[in-house]
Amino acid sequence: MVEKQLLNLNILVIGGGIAGLATAYSLAAAGHTVTILEAAASPKEVGADVTRILFRWGLASKLEEIAHNDRMLNTYLCRYKNGEILASYAGGDEAAQRYGGPSYLLHRADLHGVLYDLATPHIIYRGSSRITTINPHEPSAVLDSGESVVADLIIGADGIRSIVRDAFVGGSQQARYTGDSAYRFVLPGDDVNKVPELRSLLERPTVSVWVGPQKHFVAYGIRNQQNLNVAAFVEDADQSAEYSWTSESDTDGMRAQFKGWDPRRSPTTLKYKIMDSQPLKTWVHPSGRVTLVGDACHPMTPYRAQGAAMAIEDAECLGKLFSHITRLEQIPFLLKAYENIRFERATTIQRLSAESGPYYHLPDGPAQQERDDRMRSEMEVRDALAKGEIVPPEVVATVENGRKTRQIEDDAQYKYDMTQVTEKWWAENESAM
Ligand SMILES: Cc1cc2nc3c(=O)[nH]c(=O)nc-3n(C[C@H](O)[C@H](O)[C@H](O)COP(=O)(O)OP(=O)(O)OC[C@H]3O[C@@H](n4cnc5c(N)ncnc54)[C@H](O)[C@@H]3O)c2cc1C
Ligand SMILES: *[C@@H]1O[C@H](CO)[C@@H](O)[C@H](O)[C@H]1NC(C)=O
Repeated sequence: MVEKQLLNLNILVIGGGIAGLATAYSLAAAGHTVTILEAAASPKEVGADVTRILFRWGLASKLEEIAHNDRMLNTYLCRYKNGEILASYAGGDEAAQRYGGPSYLLHRADLHGVLYDLATPHIIYRGSSRITTINPHEPSAVLDSGESVVADLIIGADGIRSIVRDAFVGGSQQARYTGDSAYRFVLPGDDVNKVPELRSLLERPTVSVWVGPQKHFVAYGIRNQQNLNVAAFVEDADQSAEYSWTSESDTDGMRAQFKGWDPRRSPTTLKYKIMDSQPLKTWVHPSGRVTLVGDACHPMTPYRAQGAAMAIEDAECLGKLFSHITRLEQIPFLLKAYENIRFERATTIQRLSAESGPYYHLPDGPAQQERDDRMRSEMEVRDALAKGEIVPPEVVATVENGRKTRQIEDDAQYKYDMTQVTEKWWAENESAM
């Protein structure tokens, strides 16, 4: 077979967040010329697990360097009032083996930094370059300076308030406020370790989630367990909260929200509105020259911590597909292939993320008791079996069923191999291009 000559495309990526950087790198690695237009003057991110793809991109040693002590061991679900552990989910070696890579507890800023360092030697990165509109047919993007930049293909990686998305979807397709808000902050390890009740949170790389009525609270160590990363989620329908990574908010407000909870708790915090959207009707503009990645096309609540992972899968898929292009006319076909491969996956994770909120936020009452009893008995049975005690078979069976259901969900989330799925799609559908 004669190797066909790759067509070098001029690709414009709007937005230099995690999705934009990952997509730019993946397409540059496939042989294309990529420019990022990023509104912010200097790359910054205020505070994920797609390690398999990141390892393929050569980042194994980099991740080990910044997070060798942050390979996630366990996730605990705790009762909000007293911190009682209701459930403990194993991560660690067992999961690493099952899913072909460890889960690192990373700060978003650190992942953004790793991707920035990876991508920028291979691409043109233009900061202070806010786009005001695009022309999907030419295609081109207009900067707020008035400058117009043309390209063969435009990729909107401009996040939840995407201007690129505005070019092809209207009202009901816009991102919407879920009614939940998040407080986020990072505590220095020295401060955490001064408080005896908090020390255990940085002893081992574990995630603790306190669940309670209309709220939950998440804490885990990052940066080799030198800092504590904290997120507190509330159903408060706060219209004044910003959707921005940098909005300061009142810490007293957060304290008031968590009055009566496990008293271990903090100083300053940022508050965000949590947005998501209905699945878009399409991710590809009818012109066939514009598409979307990341939060621009599938914004999701952070309750399964999958937003960054989905963005990196988008990037891997586009890179693999566009490594095959030989003629300009093939762009629309490849974009449809991207949508075809990614849409169901991203939409499923989007839905699962939305469903996790209400499950964590059950008010005290029969449904909450039933949930907690189920989790407690699962732990008790597991402990009893580990000690070699005799447990009635029907009890074991109920617990096993719960475990299996969760395993199926986890497998769907983590066993998925984007590289393989894309290669399979290509092998079967190449001839249609
Ligand atoms: C509170 C919270 C917690 C989260 N926690 C997690 C987590 O634990 N795990 C996880 O996997 N995900 C998490 N996520 C989601 C995750 O951060 C995102 O899904 C992921 O980073 C992908 O974002 P993105 O790059 O698509 O968009 P963004 O990060 O929003 O980046 C968009 C970029 O585009 C730029 N831009 C915007 N408009 C323009 C314009 N007009 N011109 C030029 N540039 C523009 C912006 O400046 C920005 O740099 C969380 C999200 C929230 C809100
Ligand atoms: C080939 O393409 C069709 C239509 O897009 C799709 O349904 C099918 O799953 C693809 N094949 C593979 C192996 O993914």
